[in-house]
Amino acid sequence: MNRNEELLSFIERSPVSFQAVENLSGMLENEGFERLEERNRWRINCGGNYYVTRNDSALIAFSVPDCWEGIRIAASHSDSPCFKLKENPEIARTGRYTVLNVEKYGGMLMNPWFDRPLGIAGRVFIHREDGHAERVLVSPQRDLCMIPSLAIHMDRTANDGRKLNAQEDMLPLSGLREEGGGSLMDVIAREAGCVKEDILGSDLFVYNRQKGCIWGPGNEFISAPRLDDLQCAYSTLCGFLEAERKRFLSVYAVFDSEEVGSSTRQGAASTFLADTLRRIYLALGRDFEQYQIDLAHGMMISADNAHAVHPNYESKSDPVNRPVIGGGVVLKFSGNQKYCTDGCSAAAFRGICRDAGVNVQVFTNRADLPGGSTLGNISNNQVAIASVDSGLAQLAMHSPFETAGTSDTEDMVRVTKEFFS
Ligand code: CO
Repeated sequence: MNRNEELLSFIERSPVSFQAVENLSGMLENEGFERLEERNRWRINCGGNYYVTRNDSALIAFSVPDCWEGIRIAASHSDSPCFKLKENPEIARTGRYTVLNVEKYGGMLMNPWFDRPLGIAGRVFIHREDGHAERVLVSPQRDLCMIPSLAIHMDRTANDGRKLNAQEDMLPLSGLREEGGGSLMDVIAREAGCVKEDILGSDLFVYNRQKGCIWGPGNEFISAPRLDDLQCAYSTLCGFLEAERKRFLSVYAVFDSEEVGSSTRQGAASTFLADTLRRIYLALGRDFEQYQIDLAHGMMISADNAHAVHPNYESKSDPVNRPVIGGGVVLKFSGNQKYCTDGCSAAAFRGICRDAGVNVQVFTNRADLPGGSTLGNISNNQVAIASVDSGLAQLAMHSPFETAGTSDTEDMVRVTKEFFS
């Protein structure tokens, strides 16, 4: 498999952040990384490779050389916009149908969710005889629901700008209320190896089941669910693992909750990164001042996908700073500091890209559009370190099926590898 086929396989096995972190953990363990638990005392040695997770949905891996000249961090996120199942998710409709009571997770485009096979994935906590609740990741490999459109005959204005209400229009159809119809929560319980009465808690999400693909006359495009931000989470891990990691305290971080503001205990605004870095220094017997000195010598690359100029909506992009698909990695700038890149960190990043032989494109919003934000400057509130916000150019951001460039995946691997070497 080539890199992009491996990326598609990773995305298919990672319907939501829990499975993404499980798969990233597997890749790290294959390379000899040792798992640490936040609840235990850490024993860390120079020359060792370690990783730790929080909430099963965020992950930090690090390599400790014998001595180092600063801290280098690559950060991305594990979550993507989707629908979350509410408690008591199954509702009867018309006497015949079961629909799922869901709410929005993140700021998604809702239209593309209609009329495609959807699955359910996440985690459940099961009652066990000894009184504790056991966590089980669940991801039944089957199409389990669908959000059918209203026919054009029943809404002749459907193509004139249909307004969508998440509580009225977006509830997925999940079954028939008759013999043999069954219940979605029975399927989930079976997958978890229990009966549904034994599920004490759950974090379950609706995801797009459509397989990703590589397309175009020159195989230049890659389309798949969740490219934002699994394309960066995957490619920066490849670069991290392929690098020597002998010169810096090398840190690979994947946060959860980026799509909902990052302010959970596993998000970029949390103490997860700061706690982990401080514990590394504590476990090695290095003092707090040394930590601060190494941070001052350090750098973070935040990698989160960026907007490519759209062929049908060119005027939505800045007149000149408009990344294209297949044009290399993207550096993001924002006057109001929604992105953390500044002249100094941009220069350092461009130097790394030059050494890696990778082209750098620039993204800025039109001055009359607010645009989005990402995790770089949010993370800086906890861990103050020279940082850039970067990413890969993509179209249809926050659609359940996004489009990016195949050559760009490899470019991010090369930049990250250079960064950690
Ligand atoms: Co993102």
